[in-house]
Amino acid sequence: MGLNIRGRSFLTLLDFTPEEINYMIDLAAEFKHMKNNGVEHKWLSDKQVVLLFEKTSTRTRCAFEVGARDLGMGVTFLDPGSSQMGKKESLADTAKVLGRMYDGIEYRGFKQSVVEDLAKYSGVPVWNGLTDDFHPTQMLADMLTVREEFGSDLRGRKLTFFGDARNNVANSLMVVCAKLGMHFCACGPQDRMPSEELVARCQAVAAETGAVLEFTSDVAQGAKDCDVLYTDIWVSMGEPAELWAERIKLLLPYQVNKEVMAMAKPTAIFMHCLPAFHDRETTIGEDIYEKFGLEAMEVTDDVFLGTQARQFREAENRMHTIKAVMYATLK
Ligand code: CP
Ligand code: NVA
Repeated sequence: MGLNIRGRSFLTLLDFTPEEINYMIDLAAEFKHMKNNGVEHKWLSDKQVVLLFEKTSTRTRCAFEVGARDLGMGVTFLDPGSSQMGKKESLADTAKVLGRMYDGIEYRGFKQSVVEDLAKYSGVPVWNGLTDDFHPTQMLADMLTVREEFGSDLRGRKLTFFGDARNNVANSLMVVCAKLGMHFCACGPQDRMPSEELVARCQAVAAETGAVLEFTSDVAQGAKDCDVLYTDIWVSMGEPAELWAERIKLLLPYQVNKEVMAMAKPTAIFMHCLPAFHDRETTIGEDIYEKFGLEAMEVTDDVFLGTQARQFREAENRMHTIKAVMYATLK
């Protein structure tokens, strides 16, 4: 195929061509096939990776740990309570030390500039495991999931993100849809749309790939002809809990429920990066019920448990795609 991304960091999909993105997804599909057929692939047994998490995680951490071990690599996990980074040692110094011990670094945290600086100072590939702005590893899993449903050419497929359309996941979906020539629709209130700067960058990509970018506050318009209905939590990690009341008021009209699903194509699927508030089985979910009387937030339980839902396959695909990113950048 002639593509080589060895030695590159994976900070945002804006840095990658459509061919490179498809190459990583193809590779992930191969790893998935191998894993499902019990074919060992400990191809990087001489490598070590470190995972830095300044925000909590289930899927991303587990995907990196399992993916790294399947590839034969050693893994170190560091959280803010167990490292010096930012408290007794600058980010640049930490990056320089880690780059001398490890072959690759995963970072989940707040500012995008932190993951960029880690890449700049460490000298080894750095993988963005979510920042306030972007969640690029999630996108590869999402697009593998969409490909498994609709085939590998995603051009023209309409994916609508309902809700907080300026969060990290929505931003990244707009980028990946633009790169892959898809029809991306952000459906939410006017003041939660992606930033003008990011829209302009994605419009420039869309001009090359034939992608369509649509922005609407009308749910019927967002769901019309839609292949993928996607939503995410209304208050993201790092945002204050006081925002819940305001966000509920603003975003409840964009909840993905049976009525919204019925407005899309009959073949449409539902996706969510997870974790999701679809019932009261969490402390926050129960608290919101007591304060606001809501049984569910961004997605109703019937949709989440329904036949069109693909979020658990999507979660599994995090592991196959993260493995592909690590392998392609380290091999
Ligand atoms: N989707 C996702 O990133 O999940 P975690 O926060 O559990 O890693
Ligand atoms: N927007 C969410 C995504 C979680 C995977 C957050 O940042 O909390």
